[in-house]
Amino acid sequence: MSFAPGDAKVGADLFTKRCAQCHTVEKDGPHKVGPNLHGIFGRKSGEAPGFDYTAANKKKGVIWTEQTLFDYLLNPKKYIPGTKMAFAGFKKEKDRNNVITYLKEATA
Ligand code: HEC
Repeated sequence: MSFAPGDAKVGADLFTKRCAQCHTVEKDGPHKVGPNLHGIFGRKSGEAPGFDYTAANKKKGVIWTEQTLFDYLLNPKKYIPGTKMAFAGFKKEKDRNNVITYLKEATA
């Protein structure tokens, strides 16, 4: 399946409910349980400065794009076996499209 642009407003809401307890998106935002996601698009996995990633996340070596995030967020533990990100995944394409559309704006 392929990413398709969604609704950033709905995505912002999903992010608040499902991601924000562990991630910030703004420039120089703090790391929480998970890394700050500013600048994530076009960057390799495991490269937010100063965050203590698992070896699995670093070694994945994927470049984060709309499409790789779309594949990852379906089932993070399957996409990166051994990751410590405790998120079961968004089964619905629509949820992934919306949250990624939001992230593209919010992390730029
Ligand atoms: C319970 C905490 C938690 C939740 C909820 C969570 N994450 Fe994470 N996330 C993490 C942790 C911890 C890592 C680092 C994983 C590792 O090092 O194995 C991570 C890693 C990531 C990465 C890879 C970052 C990189 O630099 O390679 C992305 C992208 C990401 N999360 C996005 C999301 C999104 C989007 C959501 C909501 C749908 C979400 N996460 C929900 C804790 C969480």
